Amino acid sequence: MENQSNKKEQALLRPHSIDGIQEYDNKLPLWWVYLFYATIIFGVIYMLRFHVWDGDSLVDEWRADTLAIEELRESKAPHSPSEGDAATPEDLEEGKEVYASTCASCHGEKAQGVVGPNLTDDYWLHGTGTPSDIENAVLKGIPEMGMPAWESVLGAKKVQQVVSFVVTLSGTNPEGAKAPQGTQYASQTSANTASTDPQDIAEGKGLYDTNCASCHREDAGGLVGPNLVDDYWLHGGSPEQITSSIASGIPEKGMISWAPILGPKKISAIVSYLISIQGSSPTSPKAPEGSK
Ligand code: HEC
Ligand code: HEC
Repeated sequence: MENQSNKKEQALLRPHSIDGIQEYDNKLPLWWVYLFYATIIFGVIYMLRFHVWDGDSLVDEWRADTLAIEELRESKAPHSPSEGDAATPEDLEEGKEVYASTCASCHGEKAQGVVGPNLTDDYWLHGTGTPSDIENAVLKGIPEMGMPAWESVLGAKKVQQVVSFVVTLSGTNPEGAKAPQGTQYASQTSANTASTDPQDIAEGKGLYDTNCASCHREDAGGLVGPNLVDDYWLHGGSPEQITSSIASGIPEKGMISWAPILGPKKISAIVSYLISIQGSSPTSPKAPEGSK
């Protein structure tokens, strides 16, 4: 009996022996075989999807997610520019058009001020330059000074859009800016200079790490986006220019407009952080882009 089963075992043994270890010629378990074929099929589909049919990359998916989050925010939040984060890129685009057709004639194409005051500086005649003050001025107008009330003409939605757009122009220092009028208020809407306050810088670092590091890398050495600590800039390296790159974005290159998402205070903290790390040496910096 024992002998017989021994013989059977012998017949099942494969002929080879490795360091005295032999193996049976067992059938592979079916579940294993199917899993193996499944991985092959998965591999083929994966290769076709990403290398032949150009499926969405991680960055594309990230962008789509960001847009979806923005949309969600818009639908949840009461839509008001004073919320600072409620305007979508479409709102800003719409606001830009409304501005060009309705406001530019008096405030200038770049809001530098013509008949009406400069809307990009920190000086304000009516209110303190917060988004809700600006909205108020636009809704009610300042009829005695020749500024029409826009509420009935444009409707609330368009007013909000144009105000969101005007907010993004803050601190842009357009050419031929009209002399300041009114009282200066601590910049509500943007940083004109970088802060050296360690607290601002620390806040900026936190915001940078969550929002920007995915494309510019944690040490700002550059990845999808350019190196942000070298002397080379595509869109200018002064605090104002950096603020403007971040606030308005460079949408055609995949850098979204951050003004509606972060609002001016957070952008100014990020700029302060970026200024504080200029000239640092990232581990594997991207080659310089732009000019010194
Ligand atoms: C007919 C000319 C005219 C048009 C068009 C016009 N404005 Fe004005 N706006 C003025 C004048 C003039 C003032 C300044 C009132 C004053 O001196 O008190 C003003 C003031 C303002 C202020 C307040 C500025 C401050 O310093 O407090 C804001 C904000 C503003 N306008 C935004 C807009 C927007 C946005 C539009 C387009 C929807 C617009 N304006 C269209 C003439 C105009
Ligand atoms: C989805 C990827 C992506 C994210 C996220 C992103 N950027 Fe960018 N950024 C880019 C690209 C791409 C460019 C280059 C645009 C070009 O080639 O003109 C750029 C350009 C810039 C520039 C201008 C650089 C220059 O050389 O003039 C600054 C400043 C900047 N980004 C800052 C930021 C900050 C701050 C954040 C976070 C709030 C951020 N970026 C988030 C992709 C991104």
